[in-house]
Amino acid sequence: METILIVDDEKNYLVVLEALLGPEGYETITTDNARDALRLVRESDLDLVITDIKMPGMNGMVLLEECKKIKPELPVIMMTAYGTIEMAVEAMKNQAYDYITKPFQNEQLKLTVKKALDNYRLIKQNKLLSEALSDRFKFGNIIGKSKPMIEIFDSISKLAQARASVLITGPSGTGKELIAKAIHYNSPRKDRPFISVNCGALTETLLESELFGHEKGAFTGAVAMKKGRFELSDRGTLFLDEIGDMPPPLQVKLLRVLQEMEFERVGGTRTIKVDVRVLSASNRNIKEDVANELFREDLFYRLNVMNIEVPPLRERIDDIPLLVKHFIEKYRGDEGKSKIELSPDVWKVLYNYSWPGNIRELENVIERAVVLNPGGLISLEDLPEELAGAEVEFDVERFIPPNVPMPEALEQIEEKLIRRALAQCNNVQSHAAEMLGITKSLIQHKMKKYSIVV
Ligand SMILES: Nc1ncnc2c1ncn2[C@@H]1O[C@H](COP(=O)(O)OP(=O)(O)OP(=O)(O)O)[C@@H](O)[C@H]1O
Ligand SMILES: [Mg+2]
Repeated sequence: METILIVDDEKNYLVVLEALLGPEGYETITTDNARDALRLVRESDLDLVITDIKMPGMNGMVLLEECKKIKPELPVIMMTAYGTIEMAVEAMKNQAYDYITKPFQNEQLKLTVKKALDNYRLIKQNKLLSEALSDRFKFGNIIGKSKPMIEIFDSISKLAQARASVLITGPSGTGKELIAKAIHYNSPRKDRPFISVNCGALTETLLESELFGHEKGAFTGAVAMKKGRFELSDRGTLFLDEIGDMPPPLQVKLLRVLQEMEFERVGGTRTIKVDVRVLSASNRNIKEDVANELFREDLFYRLNVMNIEVPPLRERIDDIPLLVKHFIEKYRGDEGKSKIELSPDVWKVLYNYSWPGNIRELENVIERAVVLNPGGLISLEDLPEELAGAEVEFDVERFIPPNVPMPEALEQIEEKLIRRALAQCNNVQSHAAEMLGITKSLIQHKMKKYSIVV
């Protein structure tokens, strides 16, 4: 049941409104003064406040202002007698939901109340939804809310429950290892080890003994028995990084292990059985390597039972504000918790740069800027030369699909820009409005229109 607080110093109105709204199925609470009203706003779970403007003591305008401080989204309807309509209009600027003039038409009042409550319900629903989503923004420490990242989060949740091998492909620095870890730590194997091997960093012999271990005396220098990573990750997850660099003879051995889950240590005869889930990653196009016979096709299919493809950063620039915030927090240290902001030119560069090194590069750029400029405003001088000097070109045509009706396209672009401005300004509406070059009341109006809740 929805609860409406009615505030008026004239008790008649309280009685009339209760009599009108009660039978509509609302719960009503009444008070004749703004002080009590504020306490009720703070302590009770209200869905709507209807308040008179002219009251002795604290008036309705102040009550509205205070309400907005406590619960910014709670709708407030102002009641006003003829002659004080200007005040009501003023109240609208201060985010009153609507106003009604006394004496009011019953039907009109009921309609206004219904609209306010419907709208509030929607805002609450959206808020819940975005909270549920924001949990997913952070998959462990994987930051992202762009469409491709949301899809990757979904894949991680699903693949975590499976046993099959997953090949994670994508350019360098896009977070492949983070994703592999997220799969492991969301899987039933999470309490067992996650072990990673870089297949590109070792010679063939070393890699072999690294993977499968060796017996004492297996080769010169093998002074003691050593367990390999396959053995160490038993019942856990083994992450084979840069799998595309694995030497062909080892590819054969790996295939057998994947098929049979058993092997011998180098120089040993005893068969060791394991239960290992294998994830692998590559920034090379392995399919091409297969076509060129550099990589075994049968192994490729074993590893690639499921696939996650991570797009480069320039294809998901929506993630930039969240990532920037995340890295600022990571590198700012504890001292002086004042805000660190980026100048508009810096944002422009960050959005337009091509990011060949992807998130790793963005992380380095932010770390450097935070160190060079501890606190305050990060400006162009704090960026490395290749970024600060990058020619910024903004090609609008690229972003507008050809067949979308124009008003719709315009709205979509407007909504995106507003969301971006808010994200960049820590949701401070007046700053976002300034960034967009519009008034605060206009941004608020648009936020209502697009159901943007901050
Ligand atoms: N979505 C993300 N959120 C937060 N940090 C990220 C994200 N993606 C990558 N990073 C950070 O970027 C760096 C590179 O990530 P990672 O090592 O997982 O990339 P990679 O794809 O394995 O790169 P390479 O192919 O060069 O090995 C790491 O420091 C990681 O923490
Ligand atoms: Mg990596």
